[in-house]
Amino acid sequence: MKNRIAASLAGLLFCMGSAAAQATLDVDLDAPTHTIAPEIYGQFLEHVGTQPYGGIWVGPDSDIPNTDGIRDDVFDALKALDVPVVRWPGGCFADLYHWRDGIGPQADRPARVNMVWGGTPESNEFGTHEFFNFAERLGAKTYLNLNLGTGTAKEGADWLEYITAETGDRAEERRANGRDTPWTVDYLSIGNETWGCGGAITAGAYADLYAQFASFAKTAGDQPVRIISGAHDANPEYADTILEHPYIADLAEGISLHVYTLPTGNWGKKGAATGFPEAEWASTMKRTLRMADVIEEQKAILEKHDLPAETFGLYVDEWGMWVDQDEATDPPALYQQGSIRDAIVAGLNLNLFHAHADVVKMTNIAQMVNVLQAMILTDGPDMVLTPTYHVFDMYQPFMGAEALEMNLQSPDYVFGDVTVPAISASAARTEDGRIVLALVNASAHDDHLVDASAFGASKATGRILQGEEMDSHNTFDAPDRVQPAPYIVDGTADDLVLSIPARSVVVVTLD
Ligand code: AHR
Repeated sequence: MKNRIAASLAGLLFCMGSAAAQATLDVDLDAPTHTIAPEIYGQFLEHVGTQPYGGIWVGPDSDIPNTDGIRDDVFDALKALDVPVVRWPGGCFADLYHWRDGIGPQADRPARVNMVWGGTPESNEFGTHEFFNFAERLGAKTYLNLNLGTGTAKEGADWLEYITAETGDRAEERRANGRDTPWTVDYLSIGNETWGCGGAITAGAYADLYAQFASFAKTAGDQPVRIISGAHDANPEYADTILEHPYIADLAEGISLHVYTLPTGNWGKKGAATGFPEAEWASTMKRTLRMADVIEEQKAILEKHDLPAETFGLYVDEWGMWVDQDEATDPPALYQQGSIRDAIVAGLNLNLFHAHADVVKMTNIAQMVNVLQAMILTDGPDMVLTPTYHVFDMYQPFMGAEALEMNLQSPDYVFGDVTVPAISASAARTEDGRIVLALVNASAHDDHLVDASAFGASKATGRILQGEEMDSHNTFDAPDRVQPAPYIVDGTADDLVLSIPARSVVVVTLD
């Protein structure tokens, strides 16, 4: 190997064997670019399992250190990610949520049952004020999902007035409940998965309802970006039919897309979070890489309806890993362990979102704390950061950067009947003119070299996240098993080769 890997790295590449093959990156540094919307790093907070209750909200009287009921450890960890936007309150939950249940004195709020997610108690302690104050303190934009399934256009319109009005009875009611200045609703969706949990209605029927609700969904001040609830990866035509509605395009700035990665692709037996065979590692990689085709498919639909990416966006407001819940967990809480496999999935998808940042204006990983591919897991007072958290942390320089177009020649990762490129890459120019490069090695066992000489840089400095096993993960007892480590490569302006071990994500700045 022509390059020297700095000593700080040497001890960290515990699984680095002989490199199987070399990938090559080509880049035209003068080609036009597009901005990676920071909102691509958005999060999703639905009332499911122990999110928000326990995972985010513990209440002001809790022994767990908190600020106004929000636990400090989780908040500080999220704050460090610079979360750009949070979607709330669902998901499927949104279509059974009635906002008036979640305002006013805590003691007076009705106790309901979360009928969507396992019949768990819904105390309504985490409501409108708690969410908007949480987002405000985080410095995150807000993405509100209105109830179309069991709500009315009036209920939605009233909620928006309550949140955003300066004057009038609803503003006064908000003030009486402790909030003087209005909040901002930055993004708004009406309905969720209307082909499924959101009512099982046809695309045409939903389009009519959307247009009706959206006509009255006004905020005081700046209007939110309005997002139609669209298709998932297996029913792309749903979006196509919605957009045939004659008025809908004037009542929306974008449409959503949901794409989950199930290791097996089978909703009845999705596959385990840990202890899975390599066949499920491989199928996970193959299945998650379909994201590129699904986005292209939706982009073509938008173009067919004369909705150019400059003015009408694709919002992937649910994506991530979904595995079988531990059978011992009852009721369904969607709590799952997150391993290095999840981190690889995160890196692959983020690279794809960057590559499609012309049309993808926001994404929201499902979800934030204790649900599906979470950033953070909690157990009572304990908290652990998942490998996915570390990927989001390492990728922060990409938020708002200019994506560079690259041509990548990658060796394959082959297992059984699965063949996928082993290496995935994304590069962008940050505000200070530097280039940030992300490299993901999706191979379960082959290390690779990546020739990045095309950038003309002589040094790569950043961090690496690697799993010793396919399912390496952090636990409350061993929270640092999968941790980013320093990564430095010295080369010359015409010779810079990076060693990317199997099962790793590397993010570096090039100088
Ligand atoms: O993220 C969990 C659920 O997945 C959401 O509530 C729903 O929209 C989707 O089916």
